[in-house]
Amino acid sequence: MKIGILTSGGDAPGMNPAIRAFVRSGIYNGFEVYGIESGFEGLINGRLNKLNESSVGDVIQRGGTFLGTSRSEEFMTKEGFGKALNILDIFEIDALVVCGGDGSLRGALKLKKSGINVLAIPISIDNDLGYTDYTIGFMSCLETVTEIVSKIRDTTESHSRANVVEVMGRGCGDIALYAGLAAGAENIIIPEYKTPYEEIYKKAIMCKNRGKKHHIILMAEAMGDPYEFAREFEKHTGIDTKVTIPGYIQRGGSPSVFDRVLASQMVFKAMEEIKKKNFGLAIGISRDQIISMEIEEALKVKKKFNKELLDILKVISI
Ligand code: F6P
Repeated sequence: MKIGILTSGGDAPGMNPAIRAFVRSGIYNGFEVYGIESGFEGLINGRLNKLNESSVGDVIQRGGTFLGTSRSEEFMTKEGFGKALNILDIFEIDALVVCGGDGSLRGALKLKKSGINVLAIPISIDNDLGYTDYTIGFMSCLETVTEIVSKIRDTTESHSRANVVEVMGRGCGDIALYAGLAAGAENIIIPEYKTPYEEIYKKAIMCKNRGKKHHIILMAEAMGDPYEFAREFEKHTGIDTKVTIPGYIQRGGSPSVFDRVLASQMVFKAMEEIKKKNFGLAIGISRDQIISMEIEEALKVKKKFNKELLDILKVISI
């Protein structure tokens, strides 16, 4: 049996440990294992290579994806999609594992609907998939953002300033929420729960009057222009306010322990499903259990917002 793996969409720490787990457990189970370069783009262009145990040596600690990734527009066209199906047929790939976020799972579903034996592993820094408690890559990103914010605190405190830090996450505020709590940010601005700006200004003034010398606000990228917000914040609070946009730094770096373990567990589960010839499934984690469910159903699960974390942040970041 020939099995293939690709990484798609925005890269995230944990992709390399996932590929490693796939190759090693695939070979252990007697499969012929293929790595597809540059996501769906590479699939369309037939960039498939047979991998062996050594192909994934020394990758567990590396960020990014050594296979490469892409956001393939061609795959979404009828012609491009047809080419992808043709390549899978030519290489006689019996099962394909797609690693990525929301868009990649949608790509996997499209393949499933065309009769391809596909499985999906959720890897994205955004943590925006409702069916899984965590996407691989999210925790590593939090480590990075928390470290960045800790450094920003040093300079913000020294100058008695405020700093608005724009974080990634697309339409999801989880990076701002979790990193905000971990880094001791005074406030967060996220799509899931809109704190009135007046309340944010009031808290900043209160903190300042109490003698607090820094004020950090994590702003999710979906929430508009951080410079515009900073200007308004400065106007209403009288606090000198700077803006930091860490950008792609948030996606880089060595995968965290949590993500390495999660990637290994999820891929192991995918391998079990391949052995049982169960396809069309998305792997996830729910209440500490590695789960699998129909990709179509998984994509329908609405992401829950952890309001409790926001409440905690509001109480303790004063
Ligand atoms: O989905 C991961 C992510 O990093 C988002 O947080 C961000 O909005 C987007 O990708 C950026 O995408 P690109 O790499 O295409 O600029």
